[in-house]
Amino acid sequence: MRSSPEQSPSTLRWDGGIDGCLWLLDQTLLPTEVREIECRSVDDVWNAIKRLSVRGAPAIGCAAAYGVVVGLHGMEHVPSADFAARLTDVCDYLASSRPTAVNLFWALDRMRRVAAELPADTNSSDRLARLLAEAHAITREDREMCAAIGRHGAALVPDGAGILTHCNAGGLATAGDGTALSVIFAAAAAGKRVRAYADETRPLLQGARLTAWELAQRSIPVTLICDSMAAIVMREGRVQLVVTGADRIAGNGDAANKIGTYSVALLAKAHGIPFYIAAPSSTFDLALASGAEIPIEERDSSEITHGFGRQTAPAGIDVYNPAFDVTPAELITGIITERGVIAPVTADNVRAMIGGAR
Ligand code: MRU
Repeated sequence: MRSSPEQSPSTLRWDGGIDGCLWLLDQTLLPTEVREIECRSVDDVWNAIKRLSVRGAPAIGCAAAYGVVVGLHGMEHVPSADFAARLTDVCDYLASSRPTAVNLFWALDRMRRVAAELPADTNSSDRLARLLAEAHAITREDREMCAAIGRHGAALVPDGAGILTHCNAGGLATAGDGTALSVIFAAAAAGKRVRAYADETRPLLQGARLTAWELAQRSIPVTLICDSMAAIVMREGRVQLVVTGADRIAGNGDAANKIGTYSVALLAKAHGIPFYIAAPSSTFDLALASGAEIPIEERDSSEITHGFGRQTAPAGIDVYNPAFDVTPAELITGIITERGVIAPVTADNVRAMIGGAR
């Protein structure tokens, strides 16, 4: 366990070989405490995803991949049929942790597929080693995709731009530098003067607790605003660009992201400000024709009535708490992927950039 911001641990890291364990930076404690949690069982990983100790679509996928390895501990010497049955149970269980980010299901599918493709006589210990190698590959590729998204996105950032972002799509949400924040980091690294505006992102404050913290750690100028202030900062000409991440993008380009993203996109449209989504190909779900088919997670009412320890609403009040909303493709100026920028956002352009090559 480490405890000072100067030595910030990675969002996630694997320690050891096939009998190793997953360490996660516990994001529920940020920004006041920097502490890692050790995941030695599949329950540890499931709970970490469910309670948002690890969150953000790509990071959830990486954590789940390592969760599969953790969930197969003790199975190194069992017959392959027992290994396969346990693998199915572990993947199904991890898939039940959160419904919206498709990266979770994408990563678990990769894990199931590599196991299924191994020769029938592969022993369980070698199967586990192959699964660990796949989890490492998923994590390494995510890091590379973040870097490529940053390179493509930086070109869209005018010098001197104010860039509004919502929730956290940074290094804390991925294995690398993030998606939306990677664009900001890359623009700053290219010498552009930028200022980020971080929506605080009710109800769980990922913008205030995570994005503001992460940008400040990297010495990027950042101004924190309440979600309800997005319109005024646009009106005042402080924002030239909006960039957010996504949890799942349908075949027509409709994009689910943290609740409130849709409102930001509408505001950007009203003020003539370009609105970009930054997301890797692993966030696309081409099996879905439109965003109407994306499952939206609903979370506990206490996140709204008792946020961060204090009751702020009448006891027993009816609450609706969807964790995500869908921004329709027509409000999205472009989707910045590791392969390039999809613009305009149409089903044909999504298919041309993403289709077939996942
Ligand atoms: O509920 P969260 O914190 O997991 O929601 C995260 C987001 O909405 C992010 O914007 C999204 O996952 C993209 S992360 C690169």
